[in-house]
Amino acid sequence: MALLPTEGGTPFLTAAKAGEVREQFGTPCYVYDRATLEAAARRALAFGAPYGFTLRYAMKANPSRGILGVFRALGLHIDASSDWEVERALAAGFAPQQILLTSQMPSRRLAEHVERGVLLNACSLYQLEALGHVGPGRTIAVRMNPGLGSGSTKRTNTGGPAASFGIWHEYLDDAKVLAARHRLTIRTLHTHIGSGTDPEIWKRAMRMTLDLVKQLPDVETVNLGGGFKVGRMPEEPTVDIREVGAHVRGELEAFRDRYGRALRLEIEPGTYLVAQAGAIVATCVDVVDTGRDGYLFAKLDTGMTEITRPSLYGSQHPVDIGLGAGREPAEVVFVGPCCESGDILTPAPGDPEAPGPRWVPRPRVGDLVIVGGAGAYCASMSTINYNSYPQAPEVMLEPNGTLRLLRKRQSPEQMLANEV
Ligand SMILES: Cc1ncc(COP(=O)(O)O)c(C=O)c1O
Repeated sequence: MALLPTEGGTPFLTAAKAGEVREQFGTPCYVYDRATLEAAARRALAFGAPYGFTLRYAMKANPSRGILGVFRALGLHIDASSDWEVERALAAGFAPQQILLTSQMPSRRLAEHVERGVLLNACSLYQLEALGHVGPGRTIAVRMNPGLGSGSTKRTNTGGPAASFGIWHEYLDDAKVLAARHRLTIRTLHTHIGSGTDPEIWKRAMRMTLDLVKQLPDVETVNLGGGFKVGRMPEEPTVDIREVGAHVRGELEAFRDRYGRALRLEIEPGTYLVAQAGAIVATCVDVVDTGRDGYLFAKLDTGMTEITRPSLYGSQHPVDIGLGAGREPAEVVFVGPCCESGDILTPAPGDPEAPGPRWVPRPRVGDLVIVGGAGAYCASMSTINYNSYPQAPEVMLEPNGTLRLLRKRQSPEQMLANEV
């Protein structure tokens, strides 16, 4: 059995190793590669900020404790997006002071966070006011919408007038008034303008962020969020993080030359750190077609239950089939197991609603299939238990080749456990 190079593949996972995964844990199963995770973290750690740097992992991308442990050991801090993620980060061994909570939902545990020392980012005027009531006299972070956003799709754009994230830049004075009323010192200014961001727009947004910093004399740290683009398919571009780092360095140095303020830098990538370090090992469970003018479909035992991105955003992921010798190629649409016509693993590029056939060896029932680029926003963002499929297990591929179980497959009893 060999992997087809046609779709770009998943370099860390050979067909033989995927076969071992299937044998030991069944399918569908997530596999994460420690070496790829560590390599991505090291590249990001080398960002090269001139006046101090903190790399936060946006754990919403994949909150598995196994992954958190890899990043904690390398000295990364955490971007948490809910009270619940704060709990998971603490459970994984992060210190409260290493966690910045940036939440759409106003925290229900503000007092506890303040008490423990979890860092808090006010993402709206309402949140700022609430923080002022709970922790007057503290230093805080404020998330602003700088007026510009960019994402791989409109649904991953978190800046500009169509995004509800952060305090709109024109309300900076209101934020300052509120902070002063509660004796809050705005020490960190935060912006995050989207996921899969165009690097040029990211740089423009950085300029706009620094314009805001000029008006906030107590700011010592600027957090520019995540959003670094990763191409999961060979034809998709991946951001050159060193080039972005060099640009940011230049901007921060120029800012210091001009305003005498040496700003510490934070970035908080999710995708960049984990996307290419994950794959789903699956099985082809059926092959059907819709006649001469129709499509040939390979039904897999994985779909929106483990990887929602294709149906949600029309995202492209490599799909590789273990190949029997001499198998002829065919144009194949890969679909998932859900009773949902949107459960398509290969939508047409640029048109999430249309099927996007791929040239692969003609699939057969029982084939081993690997869906690549599945480390970010897959396990964390799947439609778990739709059609009552159990949550899939996660395993870590260690550099010595061993497969370490991180999370077991959910049992039927666990699925029913909270029904009363
Ligand atoms: C506040 C914040 N920071 C960082 C990220 C990470 O984004 P990405 O995974 O695109 O790097 C997100 C993603 O939604 C976010 O909301």
